[in-house]
Amino acid sequence: MTTSSLPRLCWNGAFSPDPARGVSLGDVRALVPRLETGAAVLRNGAAEGRSGFGWISLPRADCGKILAMGDALSKEDAIVQIGIGGSALGNLMLHSALLPPYWNELPPSARNRPRFFMSDNPDPRDVETIWSLIDPSRTSFIVVSKSGSTAETMANFLFFWKRMIDALGFEKAKERFVVITDETKGCLRPFVSETGCRSLVLPGDVGGRFSVLSSVGLLSASALGIDVRSLLSGAAAMDDLIASAGTPEENPAWMISALSLLHAKAGRNMNVLMPYADALEHFVEWYAQLWGESLGKKGKGSTPVRALGAIDQHSQIQLYTEGPDDKLFTILSVREPSVDVAIPSAGQQSLREIAYLFDASLHALLSFEARSTAAAILKSGKPVLFMEIPELNAFSIGAIVYLYEYATALTGTLLEIDPFDQPGVEQGKRYTYGLMGKAGFEKEAEEALSLEKRFRNS
Ligand code: PA5
Repeated sequence: MTTSSLPRLCWNGAFSPDPARGVSLGDVRALVPRLETGAAVLRNGAAEGRSGFGWISLPRADCGKILAMGDALSKEDAIVQIGIGGSALGNLMLHSALLPPYWNELPPSARNRPRFFMSDNPDPRDVETIWSLIDPSRTSFIVVSKSGSTAETMANFLFFWKRMIDALGFEKAKERFVVITDETKGCLRPFVSETGCRSLVLPGDVGGRFSVLSSVGLLSASALGIDVRSLLSGAAAMDDLIASAGTPEENPAWMISALSLLHAKAGRNMNVLMPYADALEHFVEWYAQLWGESLGKKGKGSTPVRALGAIDQHSQIQLYTEGPDDKLFTILSVREPSVDVAIPSAGQQSLREIAYLFDASLHALLSFEARSTAAAILKSGKPVLFMEIPELNAFSIGAIVYLYEYATALTGTLLEIDPFDQPGVEQGKRYTYGLMGKAGFEKEAEEALSLEKRFRNS
């Protein structure tokens, strides 16, 4: 694969002509010294092995052990991953981008790999349904928690662990669990030592939402047949491009970062990401966590907005074009489809009105709609980035994943916040521990209950 296989960012439509709240290429260029400093912060952080910066090295990390374990899991009938947030969204994103849709519904001969279930929310209906759909003796569980303590993950883990022991007995059950967690933190690492379950390490310097290219995202991906090496090469190729491109015009991460910063300052502090491909629907979910949780700090940050073309043309476009000018849009479009379908013509006179569709293709329709939406947004005077992905394959997904990770972290350094912590998430976790009666969190329980009085009007 070459750099022509990398996604191409068209940025010309993202400059706002609004005289009062305009953003120009000159404004972006003026940010270059700060972008260079930010890039140096990321480079040095990775070189020094600082906490949070480990994702930068993942494209070139050795994945041999993960692939070997993935190969063993690939023989199963089903895999259930238990994890939430950064321990779930990246997997869903990779699978939906790179596996055929309706994966679990495909006949085993077409899949040739396990079905996959994600157990993230501790929703009783979900865990019971997953349990009813699997055969315990032909299912493996991947339990993922960096902290080894997240309540939702631990609760779902305890559910499946008990059901598996009841179904198979301890010795057989433990063979079916793989744990991915930190080397030292939390109770899952001691659980691995106590039970002898298989495990992989989640590198200590990689945070949850930046972990998709580590064991967290790669184990299930390799078990399901995704070309993990190609995924990592795409990420490495994007890293090379970002490292070598010294102007925002050539450097997509710099451009995304600079534009989101400038537009936020000009009052457009929402970033709408709108792919025109169902395969990228989960990409937007993953991006929303990455952007929101990394940058929403100290009263700063911009709100990621999930959209999907063409569906949101029939839901949100009215707001996007004629509503308030408070958003920067990014339209994602795939150039070459992996599958296309010709739209048949029909002989009925009553259908002449739709003859413009005859013999076109569904992909052509979706692509024209992506371009039309970008054009309509531009015509309404709103800023729009247009990103074209040559084709949906592991290489291009690796590249775009790394691009958004880098742009997010770079924006964090420019905003002078720590993009790798999540104090707001931790607060909610502590209240939950308190309310659920965890020892040592009595104060948090008290505080949560007193705050509850306020939101319940009492
Ligand atoms: O990005 C993050 O750090 C969070 O979203 C975590 O991924 C999420 O809270 C789950 O945490 P853990 O993997 O520790 O269970």
